[in-house]
Amino acid sequence: MAEDKGEGKEDYKLEANSELRFEVEAGATVQLELAEGKAEIFGTELTTNRKCTFLAGAKVAVYTWHGCHIKLSGRTDVAYISKDTPMTIYVNTHQALEQMRHIAEEHVTRGPRVLVVGPTDVGKSTLCHLLLNYAVACGHSPVFVDIDVGQNDIAIPGTLGAMVVERPADVEEGFSLTAPLVFHYGHNSPAQNPTLFNILVSKLGEIINTKCNEIKKSNYSGVIINTGGWVRGTGYDAIKHAAGAFEVDVVIVLDQERLYNELKRDMPGFVKVILLPKSGGVVERNRNIRTEFRDQKVREYFYGTRNSLFPHTFEVPFAEVKIFKIGAPSLPASCLPLGMKTGDNKTKVVPVTIGPTVQHHIMSISSASSVDHNILEANSLGFIIITGIDMEKQKFTVLSPSPRPLPKSILLMSDIQFMDIE
Ligand SMILES: Nc1ncnc2c1ncn2[C@@H]1O[C@H](COP(=O)(O)OP(=O)(O)OP(=O)(O)O)[C@@H](O)[C@H]1O
Ligand SMILES: [Mg+2]
Repeated sequence: MAEDKGEGKEDYKLEANSELRFEVEAGATVQLELAEGKAEIFGTELTTNRKCTFLAGAKVAVYTWHGCHIKLSGRTDVAYISKDTPMTIYVNTHQALEQMRHIAEEHVTRGPRVLVVGPTDVGKSTLCHLLLNYAVACGHSPVFVDIDVGQNDIAIPGTLGAMVVERPADVEEGFSLTAPLVFHYGHNSPAQNPTLFNILVSKLGEIINTKCNEIKKSNYSGVIINTGGWVRGTGYDAIKHAAGAFEVDVVIVLDQERLYNELKRDMPGFVKVILLPKSGGVVERNRNIRTEFRDQKVREYFYGTRNSLFPHTFEVPFAEVKIFKIGAPSLPASCLPLGMKTGDNKTKVVPVTIGPTVQHHIMSISSASSVDHNILEANSLGFIIITGIDMEKQKFTVLSPSPRPLPKSILLMSDIQFMDIE
């Protein structure tokens, strides 16, 4: 049963176990109100008579277990009700994880550590969001790890991150990002430097193991890990590596039987590998939309989701910072210095000369205090963009979320660029 709607104000009466799916048209916003009954958006319960606004490009599903009445106003690309959703299967998965949490608490062991994998556009991020929301609603504080360096939900593209989730996500703003732990990777695909990617995944795994040993509640609550859609060849190896680094005991494979069978074959016996269907509502995103989405994430970092933040602009003398990038171009083995292996160039910390070429690149402020520290594995304190360079004055201008001065002096340059234009 599907209804196609267009513009203006529309009322939708949903039966039990159905969902209203809609996309907000480019350049428009859509207001949603729950007039009657109970409903949720990706695991966050809606409040009756509270209007929520969704911005252009948002793809939303309002699900109801027992029926509800929804009012939409604004221009939607497409809006329809579907009764064909995998929500019951997803909630059963949550119940199984919940049981593992109870056993962990009883026996003072670890809660479930879940790796969510699958090809692109199958709803991996949405499922993580849902499982985290349900866990929080049951009183847990799970750790959310996002190692999708292209479409990361914790920090900006080109990073890997982790955080403890203590409150359900806000339907408009997502999870509140209190004290996330973020690492600089510098590219939007793990394929660009798998060596560095795996090192950072191992580092995150180590930190999470230590934290979970210290914080009992997080240990019982478990860890939910989101991944990117790279599942073949080196991408598959990276999935296996992540499963080991986070010591996962559950792998959820969305939509792809082949990947499911490969992982069943290759994971150790104590790891439960589960195949779940994707929702028919998940919308495919082409390359352009992905690029736009990444730009939007960077913009949100500086300006907030609804332009509610006011970033700072100030000048920094060249002499106050040192810029590096990680990874040097590969050299043939015969040209390498004695004792250096061909893979070593991928983790090489290379100084970058400040000049016009650094403009518009995302710069991560490293927590390392000096070049003698392990810069590679130092977490990021935040991000800035160099928006202008004055070679004569030997100063550059930055866009920064915080006022001057920069908290540390080592900057790591990302491949990813951001032009600060409307
Ligand atoms: N049931 C649904 N109805 C409508 N839209 C949905 C539904 N589930 C997910 N979406 C939307 O589909 C889009 C893609 O989903 P999601 O980001 O979870 O996929 P993904 O597998 O993580 O993609 P990627 O490979 O890019 O990381 C998102 O914009 C999400 O809001
Ligand atoms: Mg995703």
